[in-house]
Amino acid sequence: MLNGRTLTMGIETSCDETAVGIVADGRTVLANVISSQIDIHTAYGGVVPEIASRRHLESINDVIDRALREADCTLDDIDVIGVTYGPGLVGALLIGVATAKAISYARDIPLVAVNHMHGHIAANYLAYPELEPPFLGLVVSGGHTNIVRVTDYNACEIIGRTRDDAAGEAFDKVARVIGLGYPGGPKVDRAARQGNRDAIAFKRVYLESGSYDFSFSGLKTQVLNYLNTERQAGREIPVNDVAASFQEAVMEVIATKAVTAAKEFGDDLIAVSGGVAANSRLRELLTQMGGEAGIRVIWPEPVLCTDNGVMIACAAYYNWLKGECADRSLDAVPGLDF
Ligand code: KG4
Ligand code: ZN
Repeated sequence: MLNGRTLTMGIETSCDETAVGIVADGRTVLANVISSQIDIHTAYGGVVPEIASRRHLESINDVIDRALREADCTLDDIDVIGVTYGPGLVGALLIGVATAKAISYARDIPLVAVNHMHGHIAANYLAYPELEPPFLGLVVSGGHTNIVRVTDYNACEIIGRTRDDAAGEAFDKVARVIGLGYPGGPKVDRAARQGNRDAIAFKRVYLESGSYDFSFSGLKTQVLNYLNTERQAGREIPVNDVAASFQEAVMEVIATKAVTAAKEFGDDLIAVSGGVAANSRLRELLTQMGGEAGIRVIWPEPVLCTDNGVMIACAAYYNWLKGECADRSLDAVPGLDF
């Protein structure tokens, strides 16, 4: 407790960010420390799981100390410890889980297991203090592309999901083949601003009528086929146009499906989250299509879109309020579903 407020610490190590956040009464951010490993993995063109877990182990104690200093408190003030236990890379998740268990045991405070995807949704609770369920959630990240009906804090029902690649994964793969490098999402977004989104007519994949599922692997193949044809004909690849046309084909489908789902389920608000929520074209399209349908679209600032510890702390707080605590046998669940 600090000044009569419940303090929750959230630990996130599911992929390549070692992150620790501290929130007061669930929704006020006191500290948000993120140690990114992007520089290390860039040399390999993607995240190397073994390197990620070793790096989490090396950084975690320091990141916790920095978060406590930023929040101007000590471990004695922390009331609840939350941690991402899945989905993610097993070795990476285990570092966070083991650390959280140690803190819970040493300080005798409740341990709360958080589903990473619920964490992404909770990022919007931090960005919009008045936000309450129900609403439609659009979670678009490197590992997931989901349309969900958020019925309660940390309770949701999946309406649509990707059947193959996640949106962020498709961005990362396409960025690699057009020579933009890793991490692909922000680089494609930037290149697309200089390109013509109508330059190449990549086919939009809507799947069967009425489905809110996604499929992006065929689009990735379309990009590869286009590149091969152009290279064989000796033509130079218009990188910015490819980026803009590919991005449009992904975002048009995501925005259309999200707005259609909101209309069907009677939601007047769509809360977008996950790393891909930082995409400028997705924001434009959702604002435009949502506006035409009388639906408000919200998203957190970029630092809350990508992986962070405060979203985990916020989700942990709501689990704890509901009495949903873990015991110290908690294990990482890499394939955890929503
Ligand atoms: O949520 P996140 O940090 O990690 C996962 O849980 O996966 O999302 C990372 C993903 C990466 O695939 C990255 O390329 C993508 O989000 N991303 C973007 C943008 N910024 C990050 N994708 C498109 N446009 C962006 N501006
Ligand atoms: Zn994530």
